[in-house]
Amino acid sequence: MKVFKTQIQLANYLSTLKKVSNKMGLVPTMGALHQGHLSLIKKSKQLCDLTIASIFVNPTQFNNLADLLKYPKPIEQDIAMLEEAGCDVLFNPEVAEIYENPDEVWDYEVGGLNAILEGEFRPGHYIGVTQIVYKLFNLVKPDVAFFGQKDYQQYLVIKEMAKDFNLDVEIIACPIVREKDGLAMSSRNIRLNADERNKALTINRSLAFLKENYHVLPLPQLVNHALGFYKEIPNVKLEYLKICKKNSLKEITEEEDKKDAIALVACYVGETRLIDNMMLS
Ligand code: PAJ
Repeated sequence: MKVFKTQIQLANYLSTLKKVSNKMGLVPTMGALHQGHLSLIKKSKQLCDLTIASIFVNPTQFNNLADLLKYPKPIEQDIAMLEEAGCDVLFNPEVAEIYENPDEVWDYEVGGLNAILEGEFRPGHYIGVTQIVYKLFNLVKPDVAFFGQKDYQQYLVIKEMAKDFNLDVEIIACPIVREKDGLAMSSRNIRLNADERNKALTINRSLAFLKENYHVLPLPQLVNHALGFYKEIPNVKLEYLKICKKNSLKEITEEEDKKDAIALVACYVGETRLIDNMMLS
């Protein structure tokens, strides 16, 4: 695997490969890789003849400085995992290579999706996400880019951005990879102590409950019961649990409107913020 730290090296290398490669796949990440990330690499390898991963902890998408500062960076281990997965190229720049001034955040906002759910609780988050992904798309010019459904709203935001700017890239979503006990894999899981790791299972339990009972219980009762999973658990603080239309993320409130639904959750377990979701229909 080739590893590049600078844009110019990456661009030079890719320009020679573009002549011999039919389909380039990009997998943008922030590192601290796990099987969820590797499933995107695997998908790219199935569909493309060249797979490029990026590892960049993007400062403009963090609305919480402490979260940015404690973001894990096991780069040696990440490189070994990518090599093992058969990734062809890694782009791993420093912040100064990407932003002259990281405080300068662009002012593009995707309509609607920007202000709800994650956007409501992490103001500015998607502005930073679209800023970096737009830059990566421009640099790599991939034919296909792969995103996880774990960050379902992010996937919709990127699709919307690609449409807004007429970007010639196909956006593919890959299923959520979970631990055996159902916890969605996340780079933040390693911050959980044993007690928190156990409490984090509340998320998957509440989502599984919603899925199982979605066509059985009336909506208010269903949601109330699911919210009950989070009550009186010390150290667990729910930010949102919502049932939404899977394409618009508009909240479903009417019994007759229950088609194409997804349940989305964000909560703190101790100091760690976790998100998850599940398709309900
Ligand atoms: P990061 O959190 O590192 O995630 C990189 C990609 O891996 C995202 O598309 C995410 O949805 C996917 N992913 C994470 N956990 C997963 C899991 N358990 N199953 C399947 N896919 C999973 O998302 C970001 O980085 C950043 O916002 C980024 C897009 C790189 C922009 O900075």
